[in-house]
Amino acid sequence: MYRNALDFLACPICGHELFLADHVGNDEDITSGIVGCERGCGKYPVRDAVPVLLPERCQQKYEAKELQGSTRDRFSAEWHMYRYGETTWGVTVEERLPVVLHELGWSKEDIAGKVVLDAGCGNGTLSHALAELGATVVAIDLSEGVFRARQHCRHENLHFVQGNLYFPPFKRGVFDAIYSCGVFHHAPDTRKCFAALVPTLKNREGARYFIWLYSKRSTLFNLTVEPLMKATRRLPPHLLVPLCYILAPVVEVASRSLTALGMHNYGSRTLRDRAIQTHDLLAPTFVWYHSFDEVKEWACEAGFEEIHQTNYEPTQKALSSGLRQLLDKYRSICRPGFGILCKGSRVGA
Ligand SMILES: C[S@@+](CC[C@H](N)C(=O)[O-])C[C@H]1O[C@@H](n2cnc3c(N)ncnc32)[C@H](O)[C@@H]1O
Ligand SMILES: [Zn+2]
Repeated sequence: MYRNALDFLACPICGHELFLADHVGNDEDITSGIVGCERGCGKYPVRDAVPVLLPERCQQKYEAKELQGSTRDRFSAEWHMYRYGETTWGVTVEERLPVVLHELGWSKEDIAGKVVLDAGCGNGTLSHALAELGATVVAIDLSEGVFRARQHCRHENLHFVQGNLYFPPFKRGVFDAIYSCGVFHHAPDTRKCFAALVPTLKNREGARYFIWLYSKRSTLFNLTVEPLMKATRRLPPHLLVPLCYILAPVVEVASRSLTALGMHNYGSRTLRDRAIQTHDLLAPTFVWYHSFDEVKEWACEAGFEEIHQTNYEPTQKALSSGLRQLLDKYRSICRPGFGILCKGSRVGA
């Protein structure tokens, strides 16, 4: 943990400042130690250079569902499957970056110097790419994946944190942008997760909040696939992970065949990537589906004035041909969902 991470971090229980109570490593780069809440309500470990800002110490105050132990274990198993240097969700980080800038409505030049929260950063490769563009990035995840992420994606402008977005361990008004892809619908209550982060945005024009969520599915899906997923969500990781490796070639052959027959357009993946994707479908404890209008209402209530649904159509004339190609590929690998970008100068602190 770099000491200047404390500029952004706060106690997940009461929101007050944190101080470094004890540490090993040099003063600016702390490998292990303890950070304490100024108000005295908790002491949190720094493990393998990552502050662990989970509110477990106050467990009696929260229900197990809110603490999300099962979500943490299941995504920890998922990111353990990942190998650094390989694709994530069927794309390289270089392919993903232009799409992320498109989602945020920023150019490479715009993002340099901004403070960005990657909320639910997964393997950390995207957070690292954003830091490489000159942003200061705070990357938080509930899973143990953050420890591997810190090892493999180290950057002086990148701060990894283990935390639960339900109890955001951040100061108010510190981020120029919040970026969150495929995360909030895995919390016990998507809306609560969205609302919890609003005060961490800067109260200024240009601040923005992007999220990507699963969209509502057909009745057929709800009657067939959803019950199957409900069953697999109860399988322990030591059974589900091998099952996903077994299913991966079957799913890959099926999706390539459907694409070859022109019945669908599924992007091909490596078998490990396919296994991770299959795990992502079958493992999460909570999975919620929303509509754009529903989330727009939450954003309006939070005070955002400009709310846009992201256009992923590769046919938009204003886009460069490179981005159009990437959007085309992106659409072939994405599960059904939508992006929403919220802006407004009356939100945040
Ligand atoms: C599908 S992955 C997406 C990862 C990353 N955003 C990406 O696009 O590659 C969802 C991530 O959300 C994290 N997550 C789920 N619930 C969370 C919570 N309450 N707080 C923090 N992270 C959470 C999981 O651990 C997992 O890494
Ligand atoms: Zn506190």
